[in-house]
Amino acid sequence: MIDVREKWDNIYQGRENSQPGKGDKVLCENTHLLPKSGNALEIACGLGANALVLADSGLQTDAWDISPVAIEQLQAIAIEKGLPLKGEARDVMLRPPAPESYDVIVVSHFLERDLATHIIAALRADGLLLYQTFTRIQVSNSGPKNEAFRLAENELLEMYSSLKILVYREEGHVGDVTKGFRDEALLVAQKK
Ligand SMILES: C[S@@+](CC[C@H](N)C(=O)[O-])C[C@H]1O[C@@H](n2cnc3c(N)ncnc32)[C@H](O)[C@@H]1O
Repeated sequence: MIDVREKWDNIYQGRENSQPGKGDKVLCENTHLLPKSGNALEIACGLGANALVLADSGLQTDAWDISPVAIEQLQAIAIEKGLPLKGEARDVMLRPPAPESYDVIVVSHFLERDLATHIIAALRADGLLLYQTFTRIQVSNSGPKNEAFRLAENELLEMYSSLKILVYREEGHVGDVTKGFRDEALLVAQKK
């Protein structure tokens, strides 16, 4: 049976020379909330679009993903751009971040519920969590088919309710579904 690392390596191998994209809404619309200095971590970064935004904003950035293929592609881009980014091929479930080790943590399109306590512990005081991923209520076919990898209603909010919520968005099927932010939820929260 193909393991998780092999599965994602094959996906990124097939996309060789693809660019990481712009960064997710949760980060790109909230860069004004980032600290002026400090360190940041993108968990399960894939090609690391968010990690590149974090590094470009001046934060010393770590980017972790289980796929060495993705990390190699990201590191090459970071070196070319001269950004303060260190990629690491790492299984975050086996080796989660250490307590009080980051000022900013970003997670997008990755949902492992057991990681939540480690993420909260890994933030320093005043540290920020920016999280965006798929919801079970969906308008399009984007994201994983397996419901276990999608959020229930308000789940992200409840998972991080011990933090101070700065931004939360989850629009479900409300109103004109051809507009707005659909298929996903996003959260920005601060550890007090
Ligand atoms: C759907 S992709 C999302 C990638 C990126 N965050 C994005 O939004 O484009 C999920 C990512 O999680 C990574 N991943 C899966 N299990 C992991 C684990 N245990 N530790 C670290 N990364 C993992 C995969 O390699 C893949 O890059």
